[in-house]
Amino acid sequence: MKMILDERGKKYILKPNEEFQSDLGIIKADVLDKAQIGDEVKSHLNHTFKIVKPNINDFIDLMDRRCSILIKKDIGLVLAHTGLGSGDRVVDAGTGAGAIALNFGNVVGSEGKVFTYEIREDFAEVAKKNIDNFGIENIEVKNKNIKEGIDEDNIDLIFLDLPKPFEIFEEVQESLNVGGWLAVYAPYIDQAEISYRIAKKLGFYNIEIIEILERGLEVRPQGVRPKTRMVGHSGYLVFARKL
Ligand SMILES: C[S@@+](CC[C@H](N)C(=O)[O-])C[C@H]1O[C@@H](n2cnc3c(N)ncnc32)[C@H](O)[C@@H]1O
Repeated sequence: MKMILDERGKKYILKPNEEFQSDLGIIKADVLDKAQIGDEVKSHLNHTFKIVKPNINDFIDLMDRRCSILIKKDIGLVLAHTGLGSGDRVVDAGTGAGAIALNFGNVVGSEGKVFTYEIREDFAEVAKKNIDNFGIENIEVKNKNIKEGIDEDNIDLIFLDLPKPFEIFEEVQESLNVGGWLAVYAPYIDQAEISYRIAKKLGFYNIEIIEILERGLEVRPQGVRPKTRMVGHSGYLVFARKL
């Protein structure tokens, strides 16, 4: 897979045998197909573009989506807090466009496996296409309501990003390995609170609710200061471990 970066740092994923067009000009398909990662190519308007290998974040930024996707600050915490690693088995729901499922697949590698449940057929199709285009083979998209049952067991992490996730915590507990993690993404605090209380009642350990606040800094001639704009709120993350 190749990506093209323009002089402003704007990025686009290239499709094989397809001409590239933007406001900075046109580049013919044969020029792009021949270009190697690191090469520079010129548009017919003489603007310079760089050919770059996209990483998972570039791919997710540019992939097709029909619903909101999880953002890096929250994905990063799920991966770090649960210690997900190579060879692990993950259940994920709902898939949406597949943002966190792709990250799970990337981390667990070819020895691991991700089963991601999506209730909507159209969303499941988009996610399948995104995963195929990314070129990863360890993610299975299941067009299924996860509340009708979790088919897998010996799971190291179950991640739930759906309404009323606590309705299936008992099934989650059965599917998890001892030491495995439940992680819930909840935009509303009452969902996070109910998840916490139910996880506690069921005997999960190490239960925590965490919110990540991310603030960038800007470097100006006058000095360095926090940016005026920040992501005010995305969601709460609830973690609980089966021991
Ligand atoms: C906000 S999106 C998920 C975003 C995604 N987790 C990501 O990584 O960007 C929520 C998704 O959950 C799906 N969903 C809702 N209830 C579900 C259920 N019971 N089983 C499976 N998927 C469900 C919705 O159709 C929607 O696509």
